[in-house]
Amino acid sequence: MVSAQRVREIFEREKAAFEASNPRSRELYERARGSLLGGVPMSWMMKWAGGFPLFAASAEGSTITDVDGHVYADFCLGDTGAMTGHAPAVVADTVGTQAGRAITTMLPPPDAPAVGEALSERFGLPLWQMTLSATDANRFAIRFAREVTGRPRILVFNWCYHGSVDETFATLQGGRVVARQGNVGKPVELGQTTRVVEFNDVEGLEAALAEGDVACVLAEPAMTNIGIVLPDPGFHDALRDLTRRHGTLLIIDETHTLSTGYGGYTREYDLEPDMLTVGKPIGGGVPAGAFGMTREVAERAFAQPDADYVDTGGVGGTLAGNALSLAAMRAALTGVLTREAYAHTIPLAERFERGVREMIERHGAPWHVTRLGSRVEYAFTPEQPRTGREAAAAHDGELEALLHLYALNRGVLMTPFHNMALMGPTTTQEQVDLHTTVFSEALDEIYGGSEPGKMLT
Ligand SMILES: Cc1ncc(COP(=O)(O)O)c(C=O)c1O
Repeated sequence: MVSAQRVREIFEREKAAFEASNPRSRELYERARGSLLGGVPMSWMMKWAGGFPLFAASAEGSTITDVDGHVYADFCLGDTGAMTGHAPAVVADTVGTQAGRAITTMLPPPDAPAVGEALSERFGLPLWQMTLSATDANRFAIRFAREVTGRPRILVFNWCYHGSVDETFATLQGGRVVARQGNVGKPVELGQTTRVVEFNDVEGLEAALAEGDVACVLAEPAMTNIGIVLPDPGFHDALRDLTRRHGTLLIIDETHTLSTGYGGYTREYDLEPDMLTVGKPIGGGVPAGAFGMTREVAERAFAQPDADYVDTGGVGGTLAGNALSLAAMRAALTGVLTREAYAHTIPLAERFERGVREMIERHGAPWHVTRLGSRVEYAFTPEQPRTGREAAAAHDGELEALLHLYALNRGVLMTPFHNMALMGPTTTQEQVDLHTTVFSEALDEIYGGSEPGKMLT
């Protein structure tokens, strides 16, 4: 058992060390509080453990240097936005050249067909539209699904995350669909828009679809936003079979599961979605997202006489499909997120996983580690959860904050949400081993009474 008292004591010591060694970040944060809500440009940046965020001076490859001169092995990788590594040369060069040529024009740039072709080749769906984020890709895919099926509701899995899409912030409480705790200004009661079932619950899924009012299931092929929850064998077959049988479209969100391999989980496991959404790293860090669809969905969508796809129909964005994003997408998709890149990142993730598992076993911690291609996650239960509810129940905010801060103070940056580590094409074995050492030292202190590991100064 972890002693909560011990966790708090170590956390306080680490927080004091963090404050002492990051005066420039603290100064910038204090200044930013005068003009930025919460002192940060986006409110989720308040999530970083330590009382204030580090300000990043530069980010290159898999390394970040902060304004106080500390260098970090970065396993957060912009929480997947920089899965390509930071500022990969081919993207940086392309973007630099493109910026001098055209940034946004409202006309399709010459890169457009190459991007569509790259997405088709990778994910198997023939027709694509561009957005600026994965959130928008999901919002527009849901609109298409409602339009072509004429049905009002969507179905998501309990504790999913698909970006800031209104309909998806629904959860189950005593069998009832309610807004997820903390949902800011929900537009309507979530039960009006959304059905929710547990991941891997085939019976629940069948019952929910049988109501006949579900336009689409929007699903990550493996859940990644409540820790990793893997599908049971046969779950995807059942999901596809049931959605087809009930006239519901299947939208697979590959934004994070692109870690699985070159064509995401969809290609690796031969899924057959009607639509596929993706964002984050496909522009190498430059804002970009996309949604793809089968020809059948496209034909059904364009057959709707009243749907307006060219003006104010609710699908769009002035800067979506801009020349800079498309140039970045072409460069990232064809030059960085290659098969060779995965041949580098997946073995590194295996090494990361092995290191964590060995340390968990050595310290007798009742934790587990899971891997999805180049993404690794550890969580505070001995068994892997099968549902979002089980995964959520394993959450321990204090322990998580301690591990994050402990790692930060020793030059390792994990994603601020849960215990996720992502490998990029420039991640090194030394960085992976640094994490294993720091993780082991944290476990020593949490479970034993050993001396603190070496901190950044
Ligand atoms: C699976 C999934 N889909 C979509 C999104 C939304 O991405 P963005 O915030 O870049 O729009 C996220 C963000 O974390 C995600 O994890």
